[in-house]
Amino acid sequence: MGDCGLPTLDAERNAEQDAERYTARIRRLVLGVGGESLKLNDPLELDRPTGGLKHTHPPRPRSTPTPMKFFVDTADLDEIREARDMGVLDGVTTNPSLMKTGGGADFHEHIYKICELVDGDVSAEVTATDYAGIMEEGRTLARIHKNVVVKVPLILDGIKALKTFSDENIRTNCTLCFSPTQALVAAKAGATYISPFIGRLDDVSTEGLELIDQIVTIYRNYGYETEVLAASIRHPMHVVHCAQMGADVATMPLGVIKKLIKHPLTDIGLERFLQDWKAYRESVAV
Ligand code: G3P
Repeated sequence: MGDCGLPTLDAERNAEQDAERYTARIRRLVLGVGGESLKLNDPLELDRPTGGLKHTHPPRPRSTPTPMKFFVDTADLDEIREARDMGVLDGVTTNPSLMKTGGGADFHEHIYKICELVDGDVSAEVTATDYAGIMEEGRTLARIHKNVVVKVPLILDGIKALKTFSDENIRTNCTLCFSPTQALVAAKAGATYISPFIGRLDDVSTEGLELIDQIVTIYRNYGYETEVLAASIRHPMHVVHCAQMGADVATMPLGVIKKLIKHPLTDIGLERFLQDWKAYRESVAV
């Protein structure tokens, strides 16, 4: 454990290995491989990996809790359709890199298509870096569809633009956030969403989830309305910890959304139910 109660990178690596061993042990116990088998009412003492992330400073509870939102982090229309058809999608986030891999030839038209697919917030990012340019691009994007949320980089001119957009009732997603002070300033400027990039912090040996914890605490201490949109999510445990910490939104690649529902005991259990059902039907067949 690090000083702040978060696991170190080594601990995280160990947790991953523990998780693999845990899954393997479940398979052995349930399938009765290698002399072990699970008896009815056996306590499942499997040294379950806990992760162990805790709030450093538990945030004040929201006066009115709102359900966690799931956004899909892609510009690919097929992926957006697939995520939407699961029935649990609340919105979409795009950025210039995602447009490069999944976007259509016309940016504005592509954003319109996404907005028509999903009944929820769709972040579309400006590429200007000066105040006037950000304002011009953002106002144009906001006119495309009522679902559009203008994504603005966390730079000085971006902060100025957030304030003006807020005065004009244009909703914003302040992106590329890597520190709690950046998030505090964005909230003061009236951002609708703040996007802390947790995976990219992990990439440089810094605990990305700690930033979520800090921002949630700060916002709740003062009642800022800005929603914490955890971005750069790479795996389901990011989602678990974001949910425990009270992030308002998790934006994830489609692959991570799909992994959220995977569990080997579900697959093994279903396989067994179907085999037993087949055997039962055969036994009662005339
Ligand atoms: O929405 C942007 C963010 O999610 C980027 O993720 O994986 O490129 O760091 P990633």
